[in-house]
Amino acid sequence: MGIRFNEVSYGYSSFAQGLYTAIKDINLEITEKNEFIALVGHTGSGKSTLAKHMNALIFPTSGTLEIFGHTITNKRNKKIKYNDIRKKVGLVFQFPEYQLFEETVEKDIMFGPMNFQITKEEAKKLAKQSLKLVGLDDSYLSRNPYNLSGGEKKRVSIAGILAMDPDILVLDEPTSGLDPAGKRILMDLFKNINETTGKTIIIITHDMDLVYQYFNRVLVMNDGHLMFDGKTEALFQKEDVTDYHLDYPNTIKVLKYLNQELNLNMNVFQKTTAEALAEIKRAVKL
Ligand SMILES: Nc1ncnc2c1ncn2[C@@H]1O[C@H](COP(=O)(O)OP(=O)(O)OP(=O)(O)O)[C@@H](O)[C@H]1O
Ligand SMILES: [Mg+2]
Repeated sequence: MGIRFNEVSYGYSSFAQGLYTAIKDINLEITEKNEFIALVGHTGSGKSTLAKHMNALIFPTSGTLEIFGHTITNKRNKKIKYNDIRKKVGLVFQFPEYQLFEETVEKDIMFGPMNFQITKEEAKKLAKQSLKLVGLDDSYLSRNPYNLSGGEKKRVSIAGILAMDPDILVLDEPTSGLDPAGKRILMDLFKNINETTGKTIIIITHDMDLVYQYFNRVLVMNDGHLMFDGKTEALFQKEDVTDYHLDYPNTIKVLKYLNQELNLNMNVFQKTTAEALAEIKRAVKL
């Protein structure tokens, strides 16, 4: 079960450009339990387009998509309840402005759960809990989402999806624009949800340090193609990830540089700054 792409391509059609194929012949399987996956790739490589397929927000132009046993093709099928799919797979948009539209933060977070037969009181409680999870206190409940900072909007849009308690969470650049502490709070929250509930979580990011530290599986998009699907360690052990328009994590870059400049033989594959520093200490016998 979970999500499976079979030869999926998607083309945007616009009057000015004609048809633009944003993702091409994608084959991909994501199980519904215990996965923690990073989705990376250069700007315009097709990450958001791929993510929008995962909860049937858009349909493949060709190929088929299976989501929790429902087969999605390029035609709307009256027998499929698309809202049920969107309850099972929660997607947090890249731009929170597309997701926030109520006049208070509380109403915004309550909106999703209220569609699924729960009382107003329960929804209010959920709103409070979800807001706390993303690191915002109760004083935000009565605020107008429109007047929040970029990072606050992002957190509120994430709280809205958490409140719906989906089985699979897809987050499109949830940490972009956040300060370093905010990034860590959210990444620890997602990891914690993944570990305690077994929910599969897919996160789009450009931050290779986060990818290396937090994720075991990574998907790399390049020019609409899925170029790599495998272990994070294996990706960064490759000779040249710049072929995929990616960069190495800072720890690897610094240790490689020091090895070269100081003629050392350190193990460059250290995930955190603390581990990298320990390796440097060992090598120079501090
Ligand atoms: N509504 C649209 N109409 C036409 N082309 C589009 C539309 N949305 C996206 N595209 C094009 O499809 C390609 C893939 O876009 P997508 O948003 O999936 O990229 P991305 O990998 O998420 O990039 P980013 O890292 O900048 O968010 C891009 O070249 C983009 O210009
Ligand atoms: Mg995007």
